[in-house]
Amino acid sequence: MAIQHRPEIMDLQPYRPGKPIADVKREYGLTHVVKLASNENPLGYSEKVGEAIRQALDHLSLYPDGNCTELKDALAAKFGLKPSQILPSGGSDEMVDMISKAYVNHGDEVIVADVTFPRYISTAKMMGGTPVVVPLKDFTYDLDSIYQAITDKTKLIWLCNPNNPTGTMFGEKKLLEFLDKVPGHIMVIYDEAYNEYVTRDDYPREAYKLIDRYPNVLVMRTFSKIYGLAALRVGYTMANEEIITALNKIRNPFNVSSVAQMAAIAALSDQDFVSKAYALNKEGKEYIYRAFDEMGITYAPSEANHIFFNCQYDTQEIFSEMQKRGIIIRPMFDTYARVSIGTMEENQLFIRTLKEVFIVLEAKKEAACGCDCCTCK
Ligand SMILES: Cc1ncc(COP(=O)(O)O)c(C=O)c1O
Repeated sequence: MAIQHRPEIMDLQPYRPGKPIADVKREYGLTHVVKLASNENPLGYSEKVGEAIRQALDHLSLYPDGNCTELKDALAAKFGLKPSQILPSGGSDEMVDMISKAYVNHGDEVIVADVTFPRYISTAKMMGGTPVVVPLKDFTYDLDSIYQAITDKTKLIWLCNPNNPTGTMFGEKKLLEFLDKVPGHIMVIYDEAYNEYVTRDDYPREAYKLIDRYPNVLVMRTFSKIYGLAALRVGYTMANEEIITALNKIRNPFNVSSVAQMAAIAALSDQDFVSKAYALNKEGKEYIYRAFDEMGITYAPSEANHIFFNCQYDTQEIFSEMQKRGIIIRPMFDTYARVSIGTMEENQLFIRTLKEVFIVLEAKKEAACGCDCCTCK
């Protein structure tokens, strides 16, 4: 008899990350490639992390502390929470997966925005849940429409603030009004992977405090972005103890490596590095905005480390023309693409290359048209 795959997984597509730099170099014979496709930290990581990792190497033959005791203690001290309200995970990715596994039953509705981080939908489907997709309004989460989408089947609501890929945010007042209305049996997962980059004053800076007031709220953060530890796979979730206890039952016993735990503790201790990364991101964002304005490119206002923009041509075409020239961005859909903010040098190279690609594509368009007079000129 043939192997029977669970029907829920048959329609899923594997996650497609951007091509690794080495592959692009090989494919196009390039020596210098800049990846602005995965919202990574162009500054790398704190020197304190480097030192912690060197020390962690002495313990590679031992299993990690499965409870992440020291990391939880460090996070609890930072946020004024109890360690029992915090659960580290192998990146936020693992937590998205765990939350869906722990809470989504067959037929449950899971409310997600369109567009947002894709794993919210795929993990819901994996469990037989039904994604209820609510469009963004002006590229931003539309909490009123999300509220309207609640039914008696709703189990989870995913909020991403600032949002990936649009970089847009909603303010504290909107969030509180929303949480006040959502029935307490519906879980609201508030993913703030990019919180440290936010510049606006009305951002809910202390969303983690909401877990006491709203027992149905989970707040997810990661060390992959501003802390620059994407390769190590470590993030954490803050929620009331009952939820943390439930999630703890389904995690892999040693889901966060000891290298990652020690690196994360060291990263937390270097807030100067975080400030530098924040400042570099802000400077880069303002530079790209200015260049986009000059080029007549429209974009969503970003509070994250990436910018969602209308690249004016088919996104796959722009993506491959950019990639050929050594700049990897993230194609999205139609004429929309996302670019991560890099170092100033990388940002300048991105803009120069985009201008070059526009000239090439404009010439192609004209050649395809073939007439002297038409509006394509
Ligand atoms: C909104 C959001 N959530 C979660 C993640 C997953 O992050 P990680 O698994 O690296 O912690 C990402 C990664 O890009 C993201 O953009």
